[in-house]
Amino acid sequence: MFPLQRPRRLRENRLLREMVRETRLSPSQLVYPLFVIPGNHQKEPIPSMPGQFRYSVDELLREIKEAMEVGVKAFLLFGIPEQKDERGSGAYDPKGTVQRALRAIKDAFGEEAFLITDVCLCQYTSHGHCGLVRGGRILNDETLPLLAETALSHVRAGADMVAPSDMMDGRVRAIREALDREGFSHIPIMAYSAKYASAFYGPFREAASSAPKFGDRSSYQMDPPNLREAIKEVLLDLEEGADIVMVKPALAYLDVIRAVRERVNVPVAAYSVSGEYAMIKASAQMGFLEEERVVMEVHLAIKRAGADLIITYFAKDLARALER
Ligand code: PBG
Repeated sequence: MFPLQRPRRLRENRLLREMVRETRLSPSQLVYPLFVIPGNHQKEPIPSMPGQFRYSVDELLREIKEAMEVGVKAFLLFGIPEQKDERGSGAYDPKGTVQRALRAIKDAFGEEAFLITDVCLCQYTSHGHCGLVRGGRILNDETLPLLAETALSHVRAGADMVAPSDMMDGRVRAIREALDREGFSHIPIMAYSAKYASAFYGPFREAASSAPKFGDRSSYQMDPPNLREAIKEVLLDLEEGADIVMVKPALAYLDVIRAVRERVNVPVAAYSVSGEYAMIKASAQMGFLEEERVVMEVHLAIKRAGADLIITYFAKDLARALER
């Protein structure tokens, strides 16, 4: 007879409980997404994302400084341009919103901040799609040079890593080749590899005014019921030169995070998207949920599923809670 096993023995003492914890979160694993707008002294609240704002560059610097003080060092930048056009030219304008923000952040914080940029056309195109459009169809191959140009303009302005989110086929290779050719072979690519056509992006599209004007994104983003296809997308991106692969959204796709984790030996990122944020914020505001505990539980679940890093609008709150 074995002595009676008592898992409870490891739970009663708080210090021991912490000692044997299997999953841990650290501010160094968090990426804080931020929206940049043109102008000065602008800090516009995003109605569907209480606590999140669109910042002009000066206000952005203030927010980044605050986040850095609680230990968040990585940021994912989204730009909202002055004007949109058919070809999304604001995306690759060397003087565009994101490009200007990158220079200002690098001037202010240098190597202390790690800057990632979202590479996509949808915030910049008049039709709101992530690629060029002709006759109601998305043009995959014609879009690739523009994405590569966008990534290059970000890196020239100071981006430490680029994150293509458009879901065009072949974009990782196009970006890798352009970076290598122009002397940026040291810059890594974090690919939005398994990006689903999800209703959880609703608040983001309001924030970035990037909702498609016709149709939806299901011809290029993934079909939510599919898992094997996620693995295929991930393996293709790795073949093309991705350094980090991403699953997005996170909470409704924990099985995908786990499956990807088990198949690859590169870091896996998970994006806890705008709708996940809105869902928790709204129920907390109604008094239905305890915000801080729920936020911790959800992000731990994403880590437990296998994510190495988490892109989350809760980054600052989480880092603060982890410090205590
Ligand atoms: C751009 C992009 C989107 C998100 C990140 N990059 C929107 C979309 O694909 O519609 C969503 C992020 C979020 O919901 O927080 N393609």
